[in-house]
Amino acid sequence: MGIKRPGQCGAAASLALLLLLVAAPPRGCVAAAGSGGGGLTRGSFPKGFVFGTASAAYQYEGAVKVDGRGQTIWDTFAHTFGKITDFSNADVAVDQYHRFEEDIQLMADMGMDAYRFSIAWARILPNGVGQVNQAGIDHYNRLINALLAKGIQPYVTLYHWDLPQALEDKYNGWLDRQIVDDFAEYAETCFAAFGDRVKHWITVNEPHTVAIQGYDAGLQAPGRCSVLLHLYCKSGNSGTEPYIVAHNFILAHAAVSQLYRTKYKAAQNGELGMAFDVMWYEPMSGAAIDVEATKRAQEFQLGWFADPFFFGDYPATMRKRVGERLPRFTAEEAALVKGALDFVGINHYTTYYTRHNDTDIIVRLLNDTLADTGTISLRIQERQSDWG
Ligand SMILES: *[C@@H]1O[C@H](CO)[C@@H](O)[C@H](O)[C@H]1NC(C)=O
Ligand SMILES: *[C@@H]1O[C@H](CO)[C@@H](O)[C@H](O)[C@H]1NC(C)=O
Repeated sequence: MGIKRPGQCGAAASLALLLLLVAAPPRGCVAAAGSGGGGLTRGSFPKGFVFGTASAAYQYEGAVKVDGRGQTIWDTFAHTFGKITDFSNADVAVDQYHRFEEDIQLMADMGMDAYRFSIAWARILPNGVGQVNQAGIDHYNRLINALLAKGIQPYVTLYHWDLPQALEDKYNGWLDRQIVDDFAEYAETCFAAFGDRVKHWITVNEPHTVAIQGYDAGLQAPGRCSVLLHLYCKSGNSGTEPYIVAHNFILAHAAVSQLYRTKYKAAQNGELGMAFDVMWYEPMSGAAIDVEATKRAQEFQLGWFADPFFFGDYPATMRKRVGERLPRFTAEEAALVKGALDFVGINHYTTYYTRHNDTDIIVRLLNDTLADTGTISLRIQERQSDWG
């Protein structure tokens, strides 16, 4: 890993990669910037610490109609009037599909060890299942081989929110249990095609974000919700659907993990994990009721997904508050889910102050997962002005 000339930092920065996995300034830039990093250098990290950049197919690839790629729910959403504030879409994005060799050179210049990218399901299986698109396989083979040629390890996300539209049309995508089998078919196609070189797989990126933004608030694809009396979303149910899709994400990971362990692990020796979006919560006051609410907020965020994988069931608090709207695992499913993560990914963005409130009228009216938590959380900088 070479120290880079200061002049190269600008080029590296203009690549503007979305750093989801590990965000760290390249060593050469820290040196060039003087004491700005508080003395932190790459040498401050333990040996074997992996520095990387990360992206998502829909945000990066562009080329949405090239080489047989099928349509995805994000293509549909971004092209639906009123859904994207600035009317933009990712039809071209940063054109990684065509420019990945330049991108990889920039990563090499930054001294990156790893690149986390996602595979677009609809490039591999344009209809979600069935016919495999060889041009899609060829593209990711070229991408993976170009990374390895520069000594950069591929960390591959299988699902970063771009469901093939065909499966949304066929059975409402993640709302239907059929998705578990179909996701496994797609995952297996990827293990067979790329698993000889890919050793780190993230099955699903941020299932919590999808559940909330896609099915509770309706702000992201597929844009379903019932809040605000269906004024914003044509269809959906913010009190039930987030729990159903979350359940199917968990079962889908478990199915794929079992498949990998029984059929591919011995030969390929890779690892499978999920990347969770995890906020941190601090109590708004020292009152026991707020401390309790803070714990609950975290259980509805990380616990919702992590508890099943570590303990075989959802947090007891969730069961108590959500009741029968929270799906149940059969004993057989619970056994399959528990222990199905080889590693845990944490995407951390920010911290909130949390207070208890079970009766706030605005929150009650939402009749959604937020109402279920009985908490209100505000970001730190909002605390003074809003509640000061
Ligand atoms: C809230 O949503 C649940 C789940 O859809 C529903 O059963 C209940 O009737 C709703 N309550 C109100 C007050 O709308
Ligand atoms: C919850 O919020 C409402 C306002 O909607 C307020 O009247 C009530 O006192 C709050 N309850 C608690 C326990 O903070």
